[in-house]
Amino acid sequence: MLNIQNLSAGYGGPLILHKVNINVKEGEIVTIIGPNGAGKSTILKSIFGLTDIKEGSIEYFDEELIGVKTGEIIKRGICYVPQGRSIFPSLTVEENLQMGAFIRSDKAVIKKDMAYVYEKFPKLYERRHQKTKTMSGGEQQMVAIGRALMLQPKLLLLDEPSIGLAPKIVCEVFEKCLDIRKGGTAILMVEQNANIALSYSDRGYVLELGQNRIEGSGKQLLKNKQVGELYLGK
Ligand SMILES: Nc1ncnc2c1ncn2[C@@H]1O[C@H](COP(=O)(O)OP(=O)(O)OP(=O)(O)O)[C@@H](O)[C@H]1O
Ligand SMILES: [Mg+2]
Repeated sequence: MLNIQNLSAGYGGPLILHKVNINVKEGEIVTIIGPNGAGKSTILKSIFGLTDIKEGSIEYFDEELIGVKTGEIIKRGICYVPQGRSIFPSLTVEENLQMGAFIRSDKAVIKKDMAYVYEKFPKLYERRHQKTKTMSGGEQQMVAIGRALMLQPKLLLLDEPSIGLAPKIVCEVFEKCLDIRKGGTAILMVEQNANIALSYSDRGYVLELGQNRIEGSGKQLLKNKQVGELYLGK
């Protein structure tokens, strides 16, 4: 569904990504790992139309995404949860979810989407009237993901969904990813918790200095000696 080829991009100054190749098939969970500053977030931002692209292509269902405006990218079924949970702290859970429906006007559809999110996240339903700033880190991350799911995307981009969460909650986030995939949404995520993220992923990519280094199935990468030494603490 998503095919990134030879992507070189940056932010107007020096290039950050150098001929990067990544692909995601329908129904897959794919994880990008790599050191700080490798350009992982830059890949997600590039898909979402937020970088300066010098060369390459980003095909989504065989159509070029480069040059398409972010609003239109969302309409085509890609949603993005940036690094650091950008939720509205003074709004309630439900108000945050409503914000996620910003491209919709049909109230009945919004209600249906909200029911879908509450079904995936029953805890959010229990807390629907709570202001999100008073929630735990794990709960806030669920709000951020829930908000992106309001548009029932075909592809969900998650930037470090487990950052700063206790190990038990990290597992909960990844279990939710499996659940979201069951609903027909593919996931491309960036993660520092490489061990656990790869164990939940169909495939993974190691990125270094803005370039592809190693790729393979989640299992292959977990067994890979180089990946183990550098990223899995083995
Ligand atoms: N908006 C921006 N303008 C200019 N440079 C940027 C911008 N955002 C990121 N960069 C630079 O691009 C490089 C890659 O950053 P990026 O955020 O993609 O890395 P990352 O792999 O996600 O790192 P981390 O693991 O720390 O989140 C860094 O050198 C960073 O300083
Ligand atoms: Mg990042």
